[in-house]
Amino acid sequence: MSRFFLLLLLTCFPAIRTLFAQSSVIDRKIEALLKKMTLDEKIGQLNQYNGDWEATGPVTKDVDDKLEAIRQGKVGSVLNIMGVAHTRAFQEAAVQSRLKIPLLFGQDVIHGYSVTFPIPLAEAASWDLPAIERSARIAATEAAAGGVHWTFAPMVDIARDPRWGRIMEGAGEDPYLGACIARARVKGFQGNGLGNLDAVMACAKHFTAYGAAIGGRDYNSVDMSLRTLWEIYLPPFKAALDAGAATFMNSFNDLNGVPATGNSYLMRNILKGQWHFSGFVVSDWGSVGEMIPHGYVADKKEAARVALTAGCDMDMESRSYIANLPRLVQEGKVPVSLIDDAVRRILRKKFELGLFEDPFRFSDPAREKAVLNKKEHVAAARDMAERSIVLLKNEGHLLPLSGELRSIALIGPLVRSKKDMKGFWSLDVGPLNDVVSLYEGMQQQAGNTILSYAKGCDITDTSRAGFAEALSKAREADVIIMAVGERADMTGEAKSKADIHLPGVQEELIKAVLSTGRPVVVLLMAGRPMIFNWTAEHAPAVLYTWWLGNQAGNAIADVLYGKYNPSGKLPVSFPREIGQIPLYYDHFNTGRPAKDEKDLNYVSAYTDLLNTPRYAFGYGLSYTDFKYSNLQLDKSSLHVNGSISVSFDLQNTGKYAGEEIVQLYLRDIVAQPLRPVKELKDFTKLRLNPGEIKKVSFTIDRSKLAFYNDKLEYITQPGRFQLMIGSASDDIRLEATFQLLQ
Ligand code: GLC
Repeated sequence: MSRFFLLLLLTCFPAIRTLFAQSSVIDRKIEALLKKMTLDEKIGQLNQYNGDWEATGPVTKDVDDKLEAIRQGKVGSVLNIMGVAHTRAFQEAAVQSRLKIPLLFGQDVIHGYSVTFPIPLAEAASWDLPAIERSARIAATEAAAGGVHWTFAPMVDIARDPRWGRIMEGAGEDPYLGACIARARVKGFQGNGLGNLDAVMACAKHFTAYGAAIGGRDYNSVDMSLRTLWEIYLPPFKAALDAGAATFMNSFNDLNGVPATGNSYLMRNILKGQWHFSGFVVSDWGSVGEMIPHGYVADKKEAARVALTAGCDMDMESRSYIANLPRLVQEGKVPVSLIDDAVRRILRKKFELGLFEDPFRFSDPAREKAVLNKKEHVAAARDMAERSIVLLKNEGHLLPLSGELRSIALIGPLVRSKKDMKGFWSLDVGPLNDVVSLYEGMQQQAGNTILSYAKGCDITDTSRAGFAEALSKAREADVIIMAVGERADMTGEAKSKADIHLPGVQEELIKAVLSTGRPVVVLLMAGRPMIFNWTAEHAPAVLYTWWLGNQAGNAIADVLYGKYNPSGKLPVSFPREIGQIPLYYDHFNTGRPAKDEKDLNYVSAYTDLLNTPRYAFGYGLSYTDFKYSNLQLDKSSLHVNGSISVSFDLQNTGKYAGEEIVQLYLRDIVAQPLRPVKELKDFTKLRLNPGEIKKVSFTIDRSKLAFYNDKLEYITQPGRFQLMIGSASDDIRLEATFQLLQ
């Protein structure tokens, strides 16, 4: 930015002037502190220890007195420490150090702190950016009240392989939706800015391409073209950075043979170079030291040199930095300037959080008591859960349920579960009893309807001993609601699966219950897309309810009784079989595209399976219907700096008020290199009453047309584009073409 323009900005905009002034005050404080710090104290800031709570990785045992290490200024941050009393104790040790530099407390606040919200993949199914931002805002408010300064979230890894357990933690397969959600989550976590007592530092993770692990096997290698990296995996990270993410976390995987933790292309060239990232990068748990088993370095000394040189500022839990950087500096293998840069980045965040003014400002027991579990947090969790539910099938309009039913049988291993509703990466802060099970949710709303219950079977166990009782309850009921799926520990980190079919004998139980001839609603509760073909084809009503958090039971009952008309759409493709994986909607056409899902005439297809997903990206039904009509483009061509206004009418033609997520897809029909058959480029969610019509508008401009060529230049190419407006990626309702001119 030219000096003139900067001076102009500072003169004209007082807010920018204030920010600039604050930043330069902090700069001066950092430099003054840095001058006082010994090399050991500087390296201490780059060292992060796990607290004495539940570890989230293999714990290194070589430090027995962490508090003493903190008092000696050897620790800059501690993770897995929660609660005002606990964090205060550790901070008290820090302020006994020579320079009294406060600690940063980090925690995986992934989908709620005390009030647990739906897992991130479920929230992504809502496509509801304000609701997603609010969810992160509440999580941050509670976490900050609990003494946490920094959440290791949002996880923004694109995931196209449901064998990978961490698919539950992100926003699915699409770069555009993923970028929108990354932005919403960072804004939610950081609120009105660091320094506010309800704001925590966000952490965009895992940098990068962690979700593309070969075979869907966690921590496995990733091998992809740089074009795919820039087109698919980087956009959500760039969105997080543009939204102001304070920190990044690198990933466990190697990318094209270079571990992300030691990958200077990722951290120096892209993140801190091209993207001008001014925050700091923390390694993932032990990943600095894990470059040894990767085979990238011989020992922790080399690991420390490689990681710091590549741009990794803080070493989580591997102790490579604290043990080796002093010697590396003395040997001239690591310049002090690199350490100073890392220390500056970390100290800046501590200043911005106000921790030097008051190290205990986040340790207020009265605020902790007042903020956690507020009823408006609970209400927001219920609303978010409702919006996350995806209606996959509703034959004969079996749903919503009538309040006049004589009896409902609740059958399945997840009917009464509380712990599983919290899902993976939930925290044990709020009491488990605050979680509303499906059974409890139905009890709240069933009125005079008699509820019966039978577990029927376990989740992974193969015993069918419970079938008889389940069938007898089913025969007596007007409607059966089945709750099947996964335990909360079955999908998440280090939970990759080679078989993602509905586990155990649960689908056999569904078959048995359906054989009674009674109407059956199947609820699938899981962290990942599962395979359940028989159920999908034979059950009259199917809903994917993921793991919905504390308000699961109430939200599901709200949807079953029609108090909330389901509006969710899948953020990830659901395969028919594992053999289809990786499966995603924005694929290239190939030279031999199948004409339809059964075409086998020398085309790109499987001879033993239909050529389509079980459920497509963007798919989800409603209790009502929507009609798309009257597509208008204000011009049929545009120049690269021009735009086209697109509009169409959306009408609710059913009898229930409801929300529709309308999706805009584009296809660059002829391009070099190739472009996908369609790419999500915009969407909006709107609510319509029965009969109501609303005009929906989108704008097409360069930002929706550009792509990376094989030189990684972000370009557009003139030519014809196909425009598609749909209710799902495989349910296109309106189409048009337009021309991009030079
Ligand atoms: C874990 C995860 C990472 C998490 C960190 C701290 O291994 O990979 O997402 O933030 O360690 O718990």
